[in-house]
Amino acid sequence: MTLLIKSIKDIKDVIAKSERPLGLVPTMGSLHEGHISLIKAAKNDCKTTIVYVFVNPLQFGPNEDFDQYPRDLEKDLEICKQNNIDIVFAPEVSEIYPNLEDSKKNPIHPPKELTDILCGKTRIDHFSGVATVIKKFFEIIEPDFTYFGEKDLQQFYVIKWLVEKFNLPIKIKSCPTIRESTGLAYSSRNRYLTPEGKIVAASLYKALKLAKENTRSGIFSVNKSVLESLIFLSHFQEIKVEYFDARNKANLEKVSEDAKHNFYYLIAAKINNVRLIDNIEIT
Ligand code: PAJ
Repeated sequence: MTLLIKSIKDIKDVIAKSERPLGLVPTMGSLHEGHISLIKAAKNDCKTTIVYVFVNPLQFGPNEDFDQYPRDLEKDLEICKQNNIDIVFAPEVSEIYPNLEDSKKNPIHPPKELTDILCGKTRIDHFSGVATVIKKFFEIIEPDFTYFGEKDLQQFYVIKWLVEKFNLPIKIKSCPTIRESTGLAYSSRNRYLTPEGKIVAASLYKALKLAKENTRSGIFSVNKSVLESLIFLSHFQEIKVEYFDARNKANLEKVSEDAKHNFYYLIAAKINNVRLIDNIEIT
């Protein structure tokens, strides 16, 4: 049976009676195959699994899609039921932020080395908003395990920092990116793509794979591999690349020109104004 819970008091009461280990899958809802892979990983490790569904106002910029972000709790609940999730926690904004304006003024600030790069360059305050909401849910739920997708790689590094910084007794598990057959990574925002846009969007992963092949085969340096992929993407006029970068695995710092492994290529691009991100690991 899947319980739908909306208040902090009720979730705490239910957790007190639940078996551990307790797994938490944080989401903004609109669940898709990517989320389901996290849910399955949690079910595999834990006696009790909680999926939270909460569209976090703090992580959206003033010109971003907070109001338009897809919300469909009924469908999410159905997916959770099909996957035998014990608890879906879907609080209102006022439950998590009794004083939203005050929370906006006083977020948690992860270090600049993590937030002023990649997505943080254009999504100012985004990662402060993510760190703030995740800390709140960690404190309410006190999970033993929590599950995050590698698709949102920078976010994963921010969560790792958060857990270390506040000595939270939580084990973070990373889950591989789930893709459609075209290679396009599942994302809640894919639904805004036109059918043609979706076909074009699959090129982002192709460009990442191209960079990986060029680096692995040793033909090109990191910069030249990035350039070759950007040239490939420039053939699609719908794609506006925001960044195509190479960052090391240890801490997302820039990699040297001759790097061959232990780093990621990461991309962010807009396709017909839908912002998508993806990455590939160079092992
Ligand atoms: P959301 O975009 O709903 O994603 C929830 C989780 O699903 C994240 O950990 C994300 O990395 C993972 N995910 C998304 N697409 C995936 C895919 N194709 N394959 C594997 N995992 C995927 O990320 C957020 O919500 C929010 O920022 C949140 C962490 C909930 C904080 O508000």
